[in-house]
Amino acid sequence: MNLTIQMPDGSQRVLAVDDPDIPLSDCLFQAGIQLKTRCGGRGLCLGCEVTSLGHGVVKSCQVPAKQFAQTTITIPGKSLADNNVHALCAFDVVTPNGIERLKRSGLGLAIDIGTTTLAAGIWDLMSGACLAVASLGNPQRRFGDDVLSRISFAVDKADGGRQLQHCLVAEGLVPLFRNLAAALSAHQPILAACVVGNPTMLHGLTGDSLAGFSRFPFAPVLPMDACCQRGSPNCLGSAKPFFCLPPELLSVPM
Ligand code: FES
Repeated sequence: MNLTIQMPDGSQRVLAVDDPDIPLSDCLFQAGIQLKTRCGGRGLCLGCEVTSLGHGVVKSCQVPAKQFAQTTITIPGKSLADNNVHALCAFDVVTPNGIERLKRSGLGLAIDIGTTTLAAGIWDLMSGACLAVASLGNPQRRFGDDVLSRISFAVDKADGGRQLQHCLVAEGLVPLFRNLAAALSAHQPILAACVVGNPTMLHGLTGDSLAGFSRFPFAPVLPMDACCQRGSPNCLGSAKPFFCLPPELLSVPM
């Protein structure tokens, strides 16, 4: 089955659809057309609206793609997701106590996993100088704009937690690290990495279950009252040690 799509700039695309029973918004995403699925496809927002003759305005997350086989789907500009981040220019890591500063030849990596924005910086561990920063929209936004939507997605979908983690790493952190690497004049090994984020974001990175956040007593798997040290996720390669920090230890000047 094919879908005919009219893009906001007036151009037309024809998409081949493998599974016509999945929601239209999922088909569009698979074809590289990402909509503002702010509620994670639960039909609660208007972010994924498209129009077509015969259907009028519809929430594309609520309708299977096969219903649009005989018509042209128009995507309004307001429904297209924008993952570009234009505001972030720098951030500092503040460690008032508890973490020993490594002074050795090599690089340190700091990552802020925000619900909306990912940011990362590379530091020279010997001099303490920041060598490069980069930022990106958090690609998990397509599963919902806020933490409650993402918890719901992780808990309600059979492999929701794994999808969240894969999305964060493959579509967020890996491109972010590539941007950082491109900004460096010389490459050295990353000896340590620290990650900060709210509890939902940190669980999404480590792959720990978010189920505890969905019901009383709303208990995390990761300890959130102190720094915790874990093995590095695969995307960080051999960087050790790897810290997850409580959010108040990192400030983001805009
Ligand atoms: S209504 Fe479709 S993503 Fe929110």
